[in-house]
Amino acid sequence: MIINNNGIDFFTKRRSVSVKALKGPGPAIEETLEILQSALRVPDHGKLEPWRFIIILEESKDRFIDIMLRRGQEISIDFDKLEKNKTNILNSPLIVTTICCTKESSKIPEIEQILSAGALCLNVLNNFLVRGWGANWLTGWMAHDRVFVEEAFQLGADEFVAGFIYVGNYDEVSRERPRPEVADKVTWF
Ligand SMILES: Cc1cc2nc3c(=O)[nH]c(=O)nc-3n(C[C@H](O)[C@H](O)[C@H](O)COP(=O)(O)O)c2cc1C
Repeated sequence: MIINNNGIDFFTKRRSVSVKALKGPGPAIEETLEILQSALRVPDHGKLEPWRFIIILEESKDRFIDIMLRRGQEISIDFDKLEKNKTNILNSPLIVTTICCTKESSKIPEIEQILSAGALCLNVLNNFLVRGWGANWLTGWMAHDRVFVEEAFQLGADEFVAGFIYVGNYDEVSRERPRPEVADKVTWF
């Protein structure tokens, strides 16, 4: 048995950073790709690789915000919510959009491919956190509105946004949130 004490320390204390606390500068492209390479070490039944990333950097945020505001107004998203969406985008120097692309398979059920995409989102989040970046996994209407994701990301019919991982620098550690007690979540067979 090989114990990784740093790993234990990270996992017992890990905490997402509120998007409100994120700011630039973000990781360089080289570091971003290195982190995503590490995140891709994710369980994937059948090696179907049912996921991919679309990266939103500072220079493309204005275009992303324009599409977001136009579509948000079209479907009557609250003004306050749109402002919050815009602030979140502006605060984050990097957004890793994780796309689930389910594949036709007679062996691997769709749900298992979706679970792998969820696992990848958590892996992306944790890989940024462990290297000292602030990160947070959000979805909301921008993930679920088909017209928006098709216009912004040209997603195919078998694709959806599993998560936007907002990444940035930060000063303030987010307050701990209530965590469940393991005894309340376990029964013994
Ligand atoms: C699939 C998924 C979608 C989420 N979407 C949102 C969201 O849109 N808005 C939000 O405030 N939190 C959202 N959250 C919760 C945030 O990730 C939240 O900050 C998280 O619970 C922090 O947990 P942690 O500190 O254990 O990482 C989402 C979580 C998951 C798993």
